[in-house]
Amino acid sequence: MHIEGVKLLLVRGDITIQDADAIVNAANSSLLGGGGVDGAIHRAGGPAILEECRKIRAAQGSCSPGNAVITSGGKLKARWVVHTVGPVWRGGDGNEDVTLANAYKNSLSRAMEVEAKTIAFPSISTGAYGYPVEKAALVAMNAISEFLSANKDSFSEIRFVLFDDRTFQAYEAAAKTIQ
Ligand code: APR
Repeated sequence: MHIEGVKLLLVRGDITIQDADAIVNAANSSLLGGGGVDGAIHRAGGPAILEECRKIRAAQGSCSPGNAVITSGGKLKARWVVHTVGPVWRGGDGNEDVTLANAYKNSLSRAMEVEAKTIAFPSISTGAYGYPVEKAALVAMNAISEFLSANKDSFSEIRFVLFDDRTFQAYEAAAKTIQ
């Protein structure tokens, strides 16, 4: 599949083993780690990542929802980890869709700033943050499509790494709607 002429790959698996230039972490505002994909990335990437997150916090404070920061990949195959904070789903009346779209777009901006050409996303906000996965997948695809149409040739591959079948199917369906 392609999205704005850029290869789009949907992978069923573990984001910590992806060989993309950058992988994206579904972090929380503290940037100090957590469970889910956040825990997995910090476990696999090692303490260097947390050390860099602490320095970012000291310099600019916490990361508000929709924003993104970048660290090295530590021991991961990926050279970079983009830490973004998705919205907590509160029923959909609090602009959660805008915040989620910003999380994807700001993650792409941080990766573009370091000239990463391949980037792997998890399904941001659809775990502990409770965002309905079908809705989140559509927001994700549209946000990436908008970013790529405004930033031609910024990436060669966008990858979604999905941890279970239901999530994979939701992103597959969303990808088809924007083909
Ligand atoms: N690889 C890919 N996807 C994963 C992995 C992994 N190793 N581990 C979990 N996931 C998936 C989950 O199954 C879910 O589909 O990532 C998606 C996002 O779920 P969470 O990790 O719970 O992230 P989120 O919903 O954005 O909640 C963020 O949870 O872990 C804490 O510190 C984090 O407070 C923050 C909150």
